[in-house]
Amino acid sequence: EKGGFSSFMEKEINDQPAAVHDTLLGRSDESGKLVLDELRIDPEELKKVNKIIVLACGTAAYAGLVAKYAIEKWCRIPTEVELAHEFRYREPIVDANTLVVSISQSGETMDTLMAVRYAREQGAKTVSICNTNGSTIPRESDAVLYTHAGPEIAVASTKAFLAQITAAYLLGLYLAQLRGNIFSGQIRDVLADLNKIPEKIQTVLDGAGPLRELARSMKDEKSVLFLGRHVGYPVALEGALKLKEIAYIHAEGFAAGELKHGPIALIDEGQPVFVVVPSPRGRDSLHAKVVSNIQEVRARGARTLVIAEEGDEAVRAYAEHVFYVPETPTLLMPLLTTVPLQIFAAELASAKGYDVDQPRNLAKSVTVE
Ligand code: F6R
Repeated sequence: EKGGFSSFMEKEINDQPAAVHDTLLGRSDESGKLVLDELRIDPEELKKVNKIIVLACGTAAYAGLVAKYAIEKWCRIPTEVELAHEFRYREPIVDANTLVVSISQSGETMDTLMAVRYAREQGAKTVSICNTNGSTIPRESDAVLYTHAGPEIAVASTKAFLAQITAAYLLGLYLAQLRGNIFSGQIRDVLADLNKIPEKIQTVLDGAGPLRELARSMKDEKSVLFLGRHVGYPVALEGALKLKEIAYIHAEGFAAGELKHGPIALIDEGQPVFVVVPSPRGRDSLHAKVVSNIQEVRARGARTLVIAEEGDEAVRAYAEHVFYVPETPTLLMPLLTTVPLQIFAAELASAKGYDVDQPRNLAKSVTVE
């Protein structure tokens, strides 16, 4: 069942080209138009949406953070992301013009379910992004956009995360198309970029040898930090979560811009820091800002482990190791930059002799509150 891999997690990491491919499949036509007939919410109702709230827990919430960048850019609809267990216990403001997007691999996470129920009672429209056919959250939502990652067995989520991000991009593009926010040519371009992602993930998987070697050499580390900006920030959070969950190593993800507001005090000689770098081809100062963050931590003795786009030479001077991913627009980069961090965690945890599929204290689906 593990398809020749040492664990379900390794198998599922390797399933990711298919998970993204299958989630994209059949959801656009040849002219480059999104076709999401499965979203059975009246398009007129969707046009009235003036606020989006993404609700999820854990890894799924990090997919939600990525979704926020995409949806706000393409649709110009204010989008918040909230942990479902926080949302539930305040008095959130939702009404008939609010679209609540829940993200859940299992479709059974109790906190997410209860948050969706609450939102629906308040009159919000609810869309579920879910990997499990017929599970409770999609059944209790107005509409569902299934991720087609296939069953995820390992407790730590990998392929479901990439599929959730993919589905969120599709939802964002669909809403933008419906509302006329972006030109059809632009939608076509993003779809073309998305369709190239599966083979680029494969390239990352095939080139992971040096990263695995590094992971094995780091099995006695006590703490690893992860930095990113923009969509690299949720990737940093996810990289840290994977390491905590399966390797039981203290790990924290930060928005790189927060460094000087506190976390930089943690940096001393030999502290490993992963940095997720945006594409240098972006027309903003994002890339330069992240490069200077690498420089800052390096100057304080950090071991800088950099994930960057192929051809990005600017990071080399300050990086102890660079792991390149194929060229892709920054907004779509999480589908590539997450993969090395998953592999790092899985390799390090197995070097420590841990069961990566069944980490201690964790259950695959959290059906208690
Ligand atoms: C992390 C992980 C958890 C889940 C979270 C939500 O690897 O698996 O953080 O992402 O418990 O689960 P679902 O997506 O089933 O609602």
